[in-house]
Amino acid sequence: MADERRKLRSTAWFGGSGKNAFMHRSWMKNEGHPPDVFDGRPVIGICNTWSELTPCNAHLRGLAEHVKRGVYEMGGLPLEFPVMSLGESNMRPTAMLFRNLASMDVEESIRANPIDGVILLVGCDKTTPALLMGAASCDLPTIAVSGGPMLNGNFRGKPIGSGTHVWKFYEDVKAGRMSVDDFLAAEQGQSRSAGSCMTMGTASTMASMVEALGIAMPDNAAIPAVDSRRAILAQEAGRRIVALVREDVRMSQILRRPAFENAIRVNGAIGGSTNAVIHLIAVARRLGVDLSLDDWDRLGRDVPTIVDLMPSGRFLMEDFYYAGGLRAVMRAMAEAGLIHADAPTVAGPSIGEIIRDAPSYNGEVIRSLDAPLTPQGGIAVLRGNLAPGGAVIKPSAATPALMQHTGRAVVFETIEHYYARIDDPALEIDESSIMVLKNCGPKGYPGMAEVGNMPLPAKLLQRGVTDMVRISDARMSGTAYGTVVLHTAPEAAAGGPLALVRDGDLITLDVAGRRLHLDVSDEELAARRRDWRPPANPGATGYQKLFVEHVLQADEGCDFDFLTGRREAGIPRHSH
Ligand code: FES
Ligand code: MG
Repeated sequence: MADERRKLRSTAWFGGSGKNAFMHRSWMKNEGHPPDVFDGRPVIGICNTWSELTPCNAHLRGLAEHVKRGVYEMGGLPLEFPVMSLGESNMRPTAMLFRNLASMDVEESIRANPIDGVILLVGCDKTTPALLMGAASCDLPTIAVSGGPMLNGNFRGKPIGSGTHVWKFYEDVKAGRMSVDDFLAAEQGQSRSAGSCMTMGTASTMASMVEALGIAMPDNAAIPAVDSRRAILAQEAGRRIVALVREDVRMSQILRRPAFENAIRVNGAIGGSTNAVIHLIAVARRLGVDLSLDDWDRLGRDVPTIVDLMPSGRFLMEDFYYAGGLRAVMRAMAEAGLIHADAPTVAGPSIGEIIRDAPSYNGEVIRSLDAPLTPQGGIAVLRGNLAPGGAVIKPSAATPALMQHTGRAVVFETIEHYYARIDDPALEIDESSIMVLKNCGPKGYPGMAEVGNMPLPAKLLQRGVTDMVRISDARMSGTAYGTVVLHTAPEAAAGGPLALVRDGDLITLDVAGRRLHLDVSDEELAARRRDWRPPANPGATGYQKLFVEHVLQADEGCDFDFLTGRREAGIPRHSH
């Protein structure tokens, strides 16, 4: 390697003999770096979302050390830096409120510093899109390395899934099928090791998305966090990022439209989280790639879900890895013509080359396309007078009999209104009713909380009812399930038609016909609109003010209007 000596970005800091170069180098030397590491070699930023408040990412300090091995091996200089971490389990009101804020931290940290290429250490749900979005706006060579899922949950000899069993057990308690003591005893069994949720929730979905996009190394989706092969993957990513810097392969050269199309189809095959819809649109818009809600429906609608993982199915991420992982899924898809095989990847070979000979070891966990878990997986995008901007539903997690359903609305104006009313014995509701929740969209509940899968009323659970149609402008956890219509746009707080629904209105959900219809005349809706008042602004000052004023609707990815697009990583002016 003719040590190329293309002048890298970092040489604007570390090169030369002037006052500024002295400053930049001298202070770095207090970390114990020998002088020759500032000779123009690739400087790799390791963007770390490690935090003890983000349990799913708490092991990422250790993983960074393995990335560094790979960077050093190839003659690069690795420099680890922290960015805002977003822990799904602790952050209130919702980690999603801070996704765009973290993306700003990432973007500005990269641009402001002497960095030539970036490794994104991600895991818990929002950390993956936040870092991808920020890095995309800079557009340096970039590789995402996920922390990997926890070992399978296990409670009294049975597998239990992160999140999925919290929802299930809580319903069991409400229905009188499980004691509170047993419920609490399951806590430790659910979280047995370092790593992210081991269901096909949002974290596993996003780890799969980055692998499908080609912006992560092969097997990134599924290797458990504590499996030594996760550390090897990190080291290999460290090697590759140095090569990508030398070859000047930027993020925008990997994340083109075909890569997003592959990812959307893969989301269908894995029964991935609805949150991926919002995140991928946001990332695409940072890069200037045209990607819409309708692309999700058009590309994904005929993709069968073949991965039998919770919440849609039975197994967990450890099983998925041992069964062959995402490569086995993508191979089956490629053989059916569902993958753009020539899409490039950060690993070097095209995605088609990576998956061509991928073995599959367990036909129950990774089924064939002829015998899928759900024939039409994907994400269905619904439209109609109740959702002119679209709404989404995940058919693989829904009850088939409810996917064509007309029922009377039981309306909750806010989530607090829902909590106050849901277990009132006098509430007029039965299994044919449609639960409607308002004011939980991006602006209405700043951040768009994961409350769309409202638990059913206790009196119906006790009668054995397991699912009902639910409609809202909220999101739902990727670990959750049910016939749940989400992301209704425009949201109620922005004056969308959802705001006008009243108790007793007839609503028709027709997933096959992609329709969501409120059976109220246009005249009546116009009259109701005249009486409608926007809810009091819930974020009048501080960061929430910025959020509410600038967040885009769900169909546009919930980014801030001023953050879309690529600003690249030109060299900023001197600081002194
Ligand atoms: Fe962090 Fe699920 S709570 S990945
Ligand atoms: Mg979540």
